[in-house]
Amino acid sequence: MSKITLSVIKADVGGYVGHADIHPDMTAKAKEMIAAAVDAGTLVDGQVNGVGDDIALIMTHDKGVDSEEIHKLAWDVFLACTDVAKELKMYGAGQDLLSDAFSGNIKGAGPGVAELEFEERKSEPIFVFLADKTEPGAWNLPIYKIFCDPFNTAGLVIDPNMHDGFDLEVHDVIEHKKVIFSSPEELYDLLIFIGAQSRYVIKHVFRKGTDEVCAVTSTQRLSMMAGRYVGKDDPVLIVRSQSGLPAVGEVLEPFAKPHLVFGWMRGSHCGPLMPCSMNDATPSRFDGPPRVIGLGFQLANGKLIGPRDMLGDISFDRARQIALEQADYMRSMGPFEPERLPLEDMEYTTLPLVVEKLKDRFTDMAEAERTS
Ligand code: F6R
Ligand code: MG
Ligand code: MG
Repeated sequence: MSKITLSVIKADVGGYVGHADIHPDMTAKAKEMIAAAVDAGTLVDGQVNGVGDDIALIMTHDKGVDSEEIHKLAWDVFLACTDVAKELKMYGAGQDLLSDAFSGNIKGAGPGVAELEFEERKSEPIFVFLADKTEPGAWNLPIYKIFCDPFNTAGLVIDPNMHDGFDLEVHDVIEHKKVIFSSPEELYDLLIFIGAQSRYVIKHVFRKGTDEVCAVTSTQRLSMMAGRYVGKDDPVLIVRSQSGLPAVGEVLEPFAKPHLVFGWMRGSHCGPLMPCSMNDATPSRFDGPPRVIGLGFQLANGKLIGPRDMLGDISFDRARQIALEQADYMRSMGPFEPERLPLEDMEYTTLPLVVEKLKDRFTDMAEAERTS
């Protein structure tokens, strides 16, 4: 049986207004190019979606992960959308395209990439989660709950096909190293790393003891790639579901209790990841709060049947309320940690400038103590 690849590639190539949304003309341009790629046979199917100021290209094809042809297609779409954004003077036009030319792989060039190749099952329910105003490590906690926590995922206890657990691949995005943990045997080792979500990010979840991918995230950190901070990377998460994998409701369950993530205003604050309907996918208050939408698809021979708006349901209304209360509470702390991120996690910092300005006013306390 031949395999299908699902590639989700996203980029912010211009915001409407500020960093809030994508202009409809940009979406229309992306849709036109993706439809042409389907007609030309490059893609089996393709859709354009987005959250906040990020355009997400959701593509199925038979070319495997890291295909130069698919990455080049995405690059060309983002370039064309940048032209539209420039014409309309959208905010930060082209901001995520960090190099001038395509170099064979879109990773490291700005856009976020999550891809997986698999054999489409008799029925293949699959989720694409898109988040804005946060970073890839924001998925660590929900992935942990979905694949490792029996209080979230009943199937870990009562479905014989899941009872053995899963393997999780964790990336150290600072030192560029990776490691695989086996759950549940190594949960405590796993947690010490993935609890530090701005450095250790879950990249893949595998069916136990196999290389079958059940979930994949985008792990690019724009800041690291550019050698300077140019934005939090607004990550993507793909999760396969049902028949020996977490059920649809088990995949959604973590989002019923919003967790705090890094990002929000100026990529330098801590706030709740608010589950939203696709219609509410545009950050607003304090450039946020950080938000996530869940697109549900059934695959039919590579065709994307959907999306269904999985987090728009009323059963997430209370989570939205909780997130808004959390946002009020966190905002009340203003420029104090943990509402404002620790210095090393901030996307912008003026500290070196202020230190430089005040350097002559700082006196050495040890010296003062010796002479008093
Ligand atoms: C956060 C984000 C926004 C901007 C903020 C300031 O990821 O995109 O909160 O950081 O609107 O933007 P600039 O520096 O472009 O004026
Ligand atoms: Mg932006
Ligand atoms: Mg964004």
